[in-house]
Amino acid sequence: MKKILATLALVAFAGTAFGADMIEMKKGVKFNHKAHQEALKNCKKCHTKGLGKIEGFGKDLAHGKGCKGCHVEMKKGPTTCKGCHS
Ligand code: HEC
Ligand code: HEC
Ligand code: HEC
Repeated sequence: MKKILATLALVAFAGTAFGADMIEMKKGVKFNHKAHQEALKNCKKCHTKGLGKIEGFGKDLAHGKGCKGCHVEMKKGPTTCKGCHS
């Protein structure tokens, strides 16, 4: 019984803990959060200080290691303006 309850609690928790599938950002950027979770398999690649809002997320981070930097490093994902800003 205890195990069943624990499983149910985990499922209910996961619904919100994973965050939105698609996150709309400034200047027409649609960030496919879910696709990134699946491709990278590690929340900590982006959430270095815990899950949820990323402290100080904005243009500088987006054009640096928060978005573009990783695409450059992994040679995957867009690195041109239009690739992110539709
Ligand atoms: C490629 C980078 C990246 C990965 C990997 C990633 N996230 Fe996120 N996540 C973000 C960004 C960017 C935001 C928006 C941050 C902000 O607005 O401050 C976000 C927001 C969130 C939020 C806040 C709620 C929301 O929807 O706005 C939660 C919760 C979250 N992520 C959970 C997770 C979990 C759990 C994982 C791993 C399964 C994960 N994230 C993997 C980048 C990522
Ligand atoms: C890897 C994705 C990515 C690439 C490549 C990229 N950007 Fe961005 N950019 C973003 C994200 C995400 C934001 C929004 C950050 C936020 O939520 O504050 C942003 C924000 C901006 C903003 C600020 C909007 C505001 O009101 O604060 C401008 C201007 C901008 N980008 C221009 C450009 C130009 C010009 C290029 C090409 C030289 C470029 N971006 C390349 C992802 C990208
Ligand atoms: C830690 C590495 C990493 C970070 C950080 C990251 N990305 Fe990506 N991104 C990837 C990889 C890897 C792919 C290619 C996924 C694939 O081909 O399956 C990708 C693909 C994309 C694509 C094209 C496919 C799609 O899912 O729409 C866009 C657009 C994109 N990223 C935008 C962003 C934005 C905006 C941010 C910041 C909020 C960001 N990425 C942060 C690794 C990252």
